[in-house]
Amino acid sequence: MAKRILAICGSTKTNSTNSLLLQMLEELSLGKAEFEQYDISTLPFFNPDNDNENAPQEVIDFRDQIQNADAIIICTPEYAFSLPGVLKNALEWTVSSSSFSGKPVALIVASSHGEKAFESLQLVMKIIEASFDGSTTLLIQGAKAKISNAETKDKLEELLNALMENMKQ
Ligand SMILES: Cc1cc2nc3c(=O)[nH]c(=O)nc-3n(C[C@H](O)[C@H](O)[C@H](O)COP(=O)(O)O)c2cc1C
Repeated sequence: MAKRILAICGSTKTNSTNSLLLQMLEELSLGKAEFEQYDISTLPFFNPDNDNENAPQEVIDFRDQIQNADAIIICTPEYAFSLPGVLKNALEWTVSSSSFSGKPVALIVASSHGEKAFESLQLVMKIIEASFDGSTTLLIQGAKAKISNAETKDKLEELLNALMENMKQ
């Protein structure tokens, strides 16, 4: 059965650099895996009071999608030296559910600078026990100017291949 990759974009902007990078990854994954983007902007704000069997339906769906995927790709900009709120919010809903536990992930920060978000994303994903290493993390600085570079495409392809390898284990 075909492997299934779920992609999460940390930017909700129309034609965002990060969503374009995910589109490139979708094209690169053709024939290798099924690729689906999940829109995290519809999730309610995290509230520990609802972080139980009464979680909102959108949250239950989100957790199911993660659990049913063979791997997850997160691609995000940095906002104010941190992760965009919409992404942090989505990840907070997965802390208690262990949805990411042992799940192969690829983590991309594409931003002007992005070092802080890159560090922060890896810290968050480590604490929720996602599985990644240096071959499945990528920081693209000055991202807008690099979107159509051959080097960017090569790096995305390398990352996707490494993720496919991690899915096998
Ligand atoms: C509110 C806001 C805050 C930002 N803060 C940072 C920042 O701290 N570091 C950085 O590298 N880029 C920062 N940026 C720039 C974005 O990360 C950059 O424009 C990125 O390419 C946007 O990605 P997108 O096109 O996928 O939305 C900020 C942008 C916005 C809108």
